[in-house]
Amino acid sequence: MASKLTTVFCKNLFAGKVAVVTGGGTGIGKAISKELAELGCRVVIASRKLSTLEEAAKELNKYVTDKDQVKSSVVYPFQCNIRHEDQVEALMDYTVQQHGRIDYLVNNGGGQFMSPLAYMKTKGWNAVIDTNLNGTYYCLKHAYHKWMKENGGSIVNIIVDMLTGFPGMAHTGAARAAVENMSKSLAVEWASDGVRINNIAPGVIYSPTAAANYKSDDVFDMYLENIPARRVGYPEEISGAVCFLLSPAASYTTGVTVAIDGAWGLYKKNYEVPDHEGKWPLGVHSDYVKSKL
Ligand SMILES: NC(=O)c1ccc[n+]([C@@H]2O[C@H](COP(=O)([O-])OP(=O)(O)OC[C@H]3O[C@@H](n4cnc5c(N)ncnc54)[C@H](OP(=O)(O)O)[C@@H]3O)[C@@H](O)[C@H]2O)c1
Repeated sequence: MASKLTTVFCKNLFAGKVAVVTGGGTGIGKAISKELAELGCRVVIASRKLSTLEEAAKELNKYVTDKDQVKSSVVYPFQCNIRHEDQVEALMDYTVQQHGRIDYLVNNGGGQFMSPLAYMKTKGWNAVIDTNLNGTYYCLKHAYHKWMKENGGSIVNIIVDMLTGFPGMAHTGAARAAVENMSKSLAVEWASDGVRINNIAPGVIYSPTAAANYKSDDVFDMYLENIPARRVGYPEEISGAVCFLLSPAASYTTGVTVAIDGAWGLYKKNYEVPDHEGKWPLGVHSDYVKSKL
């Protein structure tokens, strides 16, 4: 369904530009693709499910055309599993060959599941690291070599709000912390090529597809009391920040992470710590500690 919220940026801000948005057919990625397209950008949306991408492209192209922004189709689907380096290379090749350039890369495609680390299967751990860390690495490397090394560009990675750890989903916390650190390295390594790279750490962002991943809307409700804003966020609240970071307004901004979370990250307590039952070491002032137990 088309959102009521529209962009705050000026018409044609991204005219003549080309973006690749992974996971651009659903949720946060779809909102980002929609706003980029509305601002005149040509957008290649890439993920595993071609039918979802095709449907999203149709809907977004109709939206943009109805708004009389751009007459031609501006969102293009491309099937790509970012876990496979050859598919990522094909995505970047396709974008340069068919659309002429890659000005912007939004590494949004990803996923995870809830489980304490001790009970995670290694296969699940590897799948999350493979998608969220290795997949991002493949996208960065091939966008750089196919276009940005010679021509510059701007990159935004969608990570998670793992700045105080991510108990209950340690695999994604580890992968995204690695992406954040990699971005700091690349902000320096690629500065001389005119490439900027930044991260957005969303808090709890509701979309029907995100809820379906966790198999219920209750997953979002359970966070509410720990969000000072007292509500979840919405994909459009992420996309505006992505557009800002990609745009010339952020031309001196690189290597940073912006948390968009209604202050959840400053306040969060989303993991119940069970009673220690005497297992935690008492330390040197044990008499004082025992008197408090
Ligand atoms: N919603 C939140 O509260 C929240 C908070 C923090 C961070 N995030 C992150 O934000 C991003 C977008 O999430 P969302 O909430 O919008 O959920 P979503 O709608 O489920 O989006 C995830 C997207 O990633 C794509 N994807 C997953 N695995 C992929 C792979 N191997 N290769 C290519 N694409 C892949 C999916 O498409 P296919 O299934 O077609 O591949 C889907 O479009 C994710 O990285 C998510 O972890 C979300």
